[in-house]
Amino acid sequence: LMVPNAPLAAPIPQPTILSQEELKKIAAFKAVEFVRSGMVLGLGTGSTAKHAVDRIGELLKSGQLKNIVGIPTSMKTHEQAMNLGIPLSDLNCHPIIDMAIDGADEVDPEMNLVKGRGGSLLREKMVETASKKFIVIVDETKLVDYIGGSRLAMPVEIVPFCWKFTLQRLEMLFTDAGCVGRLRTEGERGAPYVSDNGNYIIDLYFDRDMGDLKAASDAILRLAGVVEHGMFIDMATTLIVAGKNGVTIRNK
Ligand code: 5RP
Repeated sequence: LMVPNAPLAAPIPQPTILSQEELKKIAAFKAVEFVRSGMVLGLGTGSTAKHAVDRIGELLKSGQLKNIVGIPTSMKTHEQAMNLGIPLSDLNCHPIIDMAIDGADEVDPEMNLVKGRGGSLLREKMVETASKKFIVIVDETKLVDYIGGSRLAMPVEIVPFCWKFTLQRLEMLFTDAGCVGRLRTEGERGAPYVSDNGNYIIDLYFDRDMGDLKAASDAILRLAGVVEHGMFIDMATTLIVAGKNGVTIRNK
């Protein structure tokens, strides 16, 4: 039945499905709301942290933030921040940082992290252990029940000298957890990936939970040849998670 001049039906609102990239940006922007003028800021590395650095640059440019000093956690972030005109310094000049903002590859229920799939774990750990506050920004896909359980890489930065020996030693530490290590490579020829510090990275994969994290961390760090690993235990002070149902903020 045609009803002449019937009002058009109002469109039914569709739920907006945000992409992972949009969620990363939402978490990053939320973290930047905690930044105040005059702060010394640790600037993280990766696709999530990149949004935070962009936002800080934007707020400095518009004058909403003033007198920020950024401490980059990688050469890539250094370049990004420099292009945005963020004044930069380093840990030598600023051994105490007010706040660091960075992403993570995995976050467990205690807010322990795996970091370094982007390769910057050493500088990230140096900067973030020097930070009074460390805000971790993630989309909800990064939440895990326990670290290493995702079967994705847990990175360890090692010196290049006799890297195969160090790889075997790392695997031997975690035979019970079915650990396999692989040298990270890049490019078509599979050349070793070299970190900003001139080191190699071994990615460890676990079949089973590696057990007590602190014990695992100590065992890895005791191996000669290891520089640092990507478990960030008890370091995060705030966790911002952006998900389908909104943003959650947890403090420790
Ligand atoms: C780099 C990192 C990154 O923070 C981590 O890999 C998360 O990256 P993204 O935000 O791109 O998912 O630890 O070393």
